[in-house]
Amino acid sequence: MAAGYYLLQPNAADETLTDDPALPGNVANGAYLARISGCIACHTDSENKGKLVAGAPLNSPYGEFYAPNLTTDADTGIGSWTLNDFDRAVRHGVSPDGETYYPAFPYEFFTQLSDQDIRDLWAAFQTVPPVNQPTPSSQLSFPYNLKQGLPLWQRFSS
Ligand code: HEC
Repeated sequence: MAAGYYLLQPNAADETLTDDPALPGNVANGAYLARISGCIACHTDSENKGKLVAGAPLNSPYGEFYAPNLTTDADTGIGSWTLNDFDRAVRHGVSPDGETYYPAFPYEFFTQLSDQDIRDLWAAFQTVPPVNQPTPSSQLSFPYNLKQGLPLWQRFSS
């Protein structure tokens, strides 16, 4: 079953995208998708007049999460990422270091995004000016602070 396969293999590498000059992203469509998918809302600290997608706190019943800096800053944002890193994060919920993201980042919904949607989003994010602003680490309340429990939680929450 496809769903079970994804849950058991969240980072199946053969499913992810790589750069292809023949398939450029559409910045306008990517910017539109970023707005309607909530990327901008969650990753921008508009309450404190924060810069566009430079990171924002997010309160949840599980604790205080931080939606990371997604600007093109190489140190504190995703400026050193590739399209493949971006795709693995957004559709597969896995970081470039191979860590599973917390479900506060709703990547399970983003598995619906098409390959072209991801290329468009990536193209749009590359137009965001760099902002050097480190993302504080998320403070989870017990028992959710046990990160090794995540793959199990992930399996049962969907
Ligand atoms: C409901 C809030 C929310 C929405 C909507 C959301 N994100 Fe996030 N995002 C998060 C949180 C929280 C994390 C951090 C998860 C963690 O630390 O495990 C995150 C992490 C990420 C990361 C990993 C960044 C890193 O430095 O590792 C990327 C990339 C990302 N989001 C892109 C997107 C994109 C693209 C969209 C829209 C399609 C989106 N996000 C929508 C909350 C959100």
